[in-house]
Amino acid sequence: MTEHLRLGVNIDHVATLRNARGGIAPDPIRAARVVAEAGADGITAHLREDRRHINDADLARLKAEIALPLNMEMAATVEMVAIALDLGPAHVCVVPERREELTTEGGLDVAGSMDHLRPLVGQLTDAGIQVAMFIDPDPAQIAASAEIGAPAIELHTGEYCNATDDAVAHQLARLVDGAEQAQGLGLECHAGHGLDLDNVEPVAAIPQVVELNIGHAILADAVFDGLALSVRAMRAAMDVVRGL
Ligand code: PXP
Repeated sequence: MTEHLRLGVNIDHVATLRNARGGIAPDPIRAARVVAEAGADGITAHLREDRRHINDADLARLKAEIALPLNMEMAATVEMVAIALDLGPAHVCVVPERREELTTEGGLDVAGSMDHLRPLVGQLTDAGIQVAMFIDPDPAQIAASAEIGAPAIELHTGEYCNATDDAVAHQLARLVDGAEQAQGLGLECHAGHGLDLDNVEPVAAIPQVVELNIGHAILADAVFDGLALSVRAMRAAMDVVRGL
């Protein structure tokens, strides 16, 4: 298999770290530049209702300053649709959102909210934005996504990533079947959530999947890939002052 699998890197947690201090560092747009230089195909950012990490100004800067396509994750609300239409990201991924959750838990119930989601898909599509529904690998949700006219889905890989022992094969089979079903319905198929270096390969091998969106594991690895360098830089800055 030689076809390029797109990597969208979710930079939300660079903003989480910035917001912990209430200042301007680390800057998620600087992170996006590094991500772009390192070979990613897109930048993913979730504008949550409570703006707990990425904020409106971050999104505007990502769109203006970063050449890679921007994938805006958002809840299916009037506020978010207005922001997306104003911003014009290349992609929108519609996700369920509960204020109290730590991260996006479970996929969107497209089958149960088709009347609400159909016009939203229409509005965003008319504005030239590719819309994906973030759903569990459930045949009814995949079929409903096609029925409301969404051009793409993102399969939630969380259950696969959290599975242990025999359940791993079962959860992987759900993703494989879901990707096949999506292709049969003409849906572009993305996947993401919880993927890391230990579990990504079987998902990356699903031929119908054209894009993975990954955040937490990449940033978690970056801490350890970069920590020694940062300590050495500080050590050197201090030693130079002391003439050491
Ligand atoms: N895709 C979607 C729709 C998400 O909501 C998230 C988490 O924000 C991701 C992918 C990335 O998940 P993770 O941070 O676990 O890699």
